Amino acid sequence: MTSRFIVGNWKMHKTVSESETLVREILTAYCAHPSVEVAIAPSFVALQSVAALLRGTSIHLAAQTVYQEDEGAFTGEISPPMLKAVGCRYIIIGHSERRHILGETNQDVNLKIKATLRNQLQPIVCVGERLEEREAGLTTQVIHTQLQEGLTGIPIQDLGKITVAYEPVWAIGTGKAATVEQATEVHGEIRRFLHRQFGIDSQTQRILYGGSVSMENANALFESPEINGALIGKACLNAESFGKIILLASQ
Ligand code: 13P
Repeated sequence: MTSRFIVGNWKMHKTVSESETLVREILTAYCAHPSVEVAIAPSFVALQSVAALLRGTSIHLAAQTVYQEDEGAFTGEISPPMLKAVGCRYIIIGHSERRHILGETNQDVNLKIKATLRNQLQPIVCVGERLEEREAGLTTQVIHTQLQEGLTGIPIQDLGKITVAYEPVWAIGTGKAATVEQATEVHGEIRRFLHRQFGIDSQTQRILYGGSVSMENANALFESPEINGALIGKACLNAESFGKIILLASQ
């Protein structure tokens, strides 16, 4: 069994000084546990100061997105080498807010994953269906396409470095998490698809659930052997709830 992985996606929240305060609070509330890996993804501008506070702790630094080129005339973008130099280990790629608000395509996701791996960083690749797609019975098809197009052309030895996060769009920020049964079913489907299409080891592939994970529902989600951890939005902006979810993941 793979160790559980808890990732806090701070999205567009917290100034630099607010980020520093939250990290200090998290470090106070949090107990390191060998069976749980933890990462936090603050905004780009806070990465450097958060990295300084995390140094010497077991919490890893993650970025919320990346550009697919290593450098060049791409105004406003941030490259993998920049994120690596500031201390990131993980990069969240293809979050639904980037897909649906900022127009990222599966092809963009594919280029970003390749750039991330090329720079020895580890992608956390988000997939998930919208409500109308679920209601039309298209969940599996949507996720297969996101994975197929997102992972195309990536060498097998690199595919093992990818964490997948299943985040149904209808569950994000709504307080209406997927049920354990719904998440378990889709995670199993993702696992089988990755094995069938790409030869990825089903036992070691890490698949996180994201979408309204809270202190209240985390325990039930973690009871499913298909759910290897969580990608957390709202509940990670509070040190107590983030710490509690980490604790639940350790049990
Ligand atoms: P919430 O936990 O706020 O629903 O956000 C989930 C998410 O999008 C994490 O990436």
